[in-house]
Amino acid sequence: MALSFFLESFNLSPTATILITILTLVLTLQHLSQRKLDPREPRVLAPPVPVIGHLLGMALLGGRYIKNLGIRHRELPIFTLPVPGSRIYVVADPSLAAAVQRASKVLSFTPIVPDVTERVLGLDHATMEITRRNLDPAPGDERGFLADIQDMVYAWLGPGSYLEELSLAAAREMRDEISSVPLNPAEPTDLLSWVRHLVTVSTAKYLYGPQNPIAVDPSLETSFWDFDHGLGALLMNILPSITARKAYLGREKLSTALLAYLEAGLHKTGSAIVQQRVEIALGHGWTLPAVAREELSFLFAGIVNATTSTFWILVQLYADPSLLASVREEVQALLENPGLDSSSGQSRLHLTDLRDACPILVAVYRECLRLGSDTYSTRLVKQDHMLANQYFLAKNSVVQIAGGVIHADSRIWGEDVDSFNPKRFLAAQAGDVGEAKGGNGVAAKAKQNNSFHPAAFRAFGGGKTLCPGRHFAMNEILAFVALVVLQFDVKPARGDKIEVPRKNDGVLPVHILEPICPVEVLISRREDSFAWKARNAEFVM
Ligand code: HEM
Ligand SMILES: *[C@@H]1O[C@H](CO)[C@@H](O)[C@H](O)[C@H]1NC(C)=O
Repeated sequence: MALSFFLESFNLSPTATILITILTLVLTLQHLSQRKLDPREPRVLAPPVPVIGHLLGMALLGGRYIKNLGIRHRELPIFTLPVPGSRIYVVADPSLAAAVQRASKVLSFTPIVPDVTERVLGLDHATMEITRRNLDPAPGDERGFLADIQDMVYAWLGPGSYLEELSLAAAREMRDEISSVPLNPAEPTDLLSWVRHLVTVSTAKYLYGPQNPIAVDPSLETSFWDFDHGLGALLMNILPSITARKAYLGREKLSTALLAYLEAGLHKTGSAIVQQRVEIALGHGWTLPAVAREELSFLFAGIVNATTSTFWILVQLYADPSLLASVREEVQALLENPGLDSSSGQSRLHLTDLRDACPILVAVYRECLRLGSDTYSTRLVKQDHMLANQYFLAKNSVVQIAGGVIHADSRIWGEDVDSFNPKRFLAAQAGDVGEAKGGNGVAAKAKQNNSFHPAAFRAFGGGKTLCPGRHFAMNEILAFVALVVLQFDVKPARGDKIEVPRKNDGVLPVHILEPICPVEVLISRREDSFAWKARNAEFVM
């Protein structure tokens, strides 16, 4: 009011008055959105468009928006993005990431879980009531559903006899699928689809048994990937049956099939961990339809990242004949043959040898995960907090550890940070990544060993949300890759060299990123004795 009155005194045209008023409003908002809530708050990056600019950027550019900001402001270990009604603190430095992970009571992931699962899985209100109870129990409190199921999954998939049992079951299932996959060596195949199919059917089998929904109705494989590709849209949750139609239909088809599977008691023929998950959910008063939806999330966790990381490993190997030859040599040396000659008796392959005696294979695995994962570890700030005694974080804001920025930091990984170079992991000590728990003492030790900060490798997340499946994933992925490289030749469908595509980072990174374009290849069987041994290998620990 006062402004327009003031402007009118200059006798401006009404249009000019309106324009100047809007401009002033914009500048004021811009100024306000750069303000710190506290002088110790991390540097505020004002949005390109006032107020909603950062949200708009994230909606339009996906995970790339925050990643690009982090890379452009490389000098900032942490910065603040103001969004309507809240702040996002982006952490782009490993030691601050470790500090976030240590402060897990105040910076917690659990309050976010119910909201996300409700939207993504389409869970009903009664189930959500149960899930929101005792979310972050203190010692001695009654334990809620989430705490119980997480404790079990972390314990069972941690080092021990069950991890060995499930890893062996997975390796054998994959061996059988890979050995019997139909091939037409003259027909171009999309390598990602090929890997997807093998991983999807074998995972469904070792987790849910031979009568799992996907084995019963193979069309559900398509439903599964429809669900996966629309996860971001489901998360938005604006009339999902319309705006995320394919993903929504895929999810509903799968959860209906999983319900029929549970009603028939078929999970009793599945893995022990699945049976235990179902027990726990029923014990907390979940209905069977809700359990069916929850199991979709476990199937998802078991399939998606294993698929995409396996794809990248295979592309990198088949694109580089000398690297492929080195990996083949490592694996061939492991095939024990207790039989008399190469054509009789099963060769044995120790899963532990794949981890411990194949340094190049393991380095390729790690480098593919580093390059492929732009993961964000998300935490809610439950009360005002001074991070590392230095940065003020306001209550009810969100903290995101930006894996994509940390994985692209040349100060950590070297000048060739953007290229595929597994050698960087060969110099490092085995076992120094993937255990992103680190305190400062650990960090100092890591430096001495000429290896990376333990919180710098983000593919499996870190702290309380560190992937419980990481040991298992490594076992099964190394087994899968070993079997494929010994049994198949893969040539480009066109040209004479396989080109490694860029990753598509313009999406919400719900898993290891997919390639920007398909890799069309010709796949044929190798006929040497190693191929034969691999096809019939007996897996042992
Ligand atoms: C290379 C393969 C894999 C990668 C890169 C990976 C990565 C991750 C990451 C980053 C998270 C944490 C998400 C967050 O912080 O919000 C996670 C969670 C999880 N992962 Fe994995 N994962 C892989 C394979 C697997 C496999 C094979 C399984 C199961 C058989 C699995 C089971 C889980 C489960 C159950 C969670 C949720 C844990 C919770 O309740 O908080 N993952 N994974
Ligand atoms: C898969 O890995 C990505 C990248 O590391 C991570 O952001 C995501 O949370 C993981 N998803 C699941 C379901 O494990």
